[in-house]
Amino acid sequence: MQQNPRCLIIPLTLLSLLLILSNTIEADNAGEWTSITNITDPKVTDIAEFAVDEYNRQSKKNLRLEAVIRCEIQSVVGENYRLVLRAYRGTVFTVPPKAYQAVVLVQAWKDFKNLTSFQHFLVRKVASDEEWTSVEDISDPFVMFVAGFAVSHYNSQWKRSLKLEEVIKGYQQTSGELSNQLVSNYQLDLWATDGTEAVPATYQVVVKVELFELWETVMTLTSFDPFLG
Ligand SMILES: *[C@@H]1O[C@H](CO)[C@@H](O)[C@H](O)[C@H]1NC(C)=O
Ligand SMILES: *[C@@H]1O[C@H](CO)[C@@H](O)[C@H](O)[C@H]1NC(C)=O
Repeated sequence: MQQNPRCLIIPLTLLSLLLILSNTIEADNAGEWTSITNITDPKVTDIAEFAVDEYNRQSKKNLRLEAVIRCEIQSVVGENYRLVLRAYRGTVFTVPPKAYQAVVLVQAWKDFKNLTSFQHFLVRKVASDEEWTSVEDISDPFVMFVAGFAVSHYNSQWKRSLKLEEVIKGYQQTSGELSNQLVSNYQLDLWATDGTEAVPATYQVVVKVELFELWETVMTLTSFDPFLG
């Protein structure tokens, strides 16, 4: 697939917002989830290590913890730690680490910990439009190209200097197929650093991609938001 660089200079088209993104945050009766800012606390690292070890043991995997990205705590009988972490798969450090979300129940007085869930970090989903599908291979060069476009367009629009680190989740929707034109929307969750933070921040972007004659690509940045899910 070829892309014509001339076509990247497309004005930000807010009116082309085709999506209604669900902002629904998981409701939970057990109590509020409270974010903790000090995610480098050794106690948090210990719980993350426990989650990864326990997942490896139960699922016969070989993940290695790289970093904790987010930590939230909920009071139950004890405390639930909900961690978003990055882990390498096995010893192949050439492959970027992936994001996972783990929940660990901690009952400190009993010296008890239990991994109650461990899954790929699933993001806020797009509205219940059935035509949206998960992008299977987010390391696909075209997906990276779309993400790169979103970041560079955002940078020039808002005078920022974000650097794309990784795409962590993607959804795609094909919204129209005319005789010589294919229109797709991509919603990508990506990590980017601004050079001041040690830990990359997560952003959710939506890009409309129009393919003309299957060789000319026009991309429009529909939205670019910090990930709040
Ligand atoms: C975070 O926790 C660690 C370990 O308890 C401590 O050394 C560090 O000072 C804390 N940082 C902040 C900003 O509270
Ligand atoms: C740990 O959590 C899992 C999943 O919720 C549950 O099936 C299991 O019984 C728990 N183990 C203990 C010892 O409580």
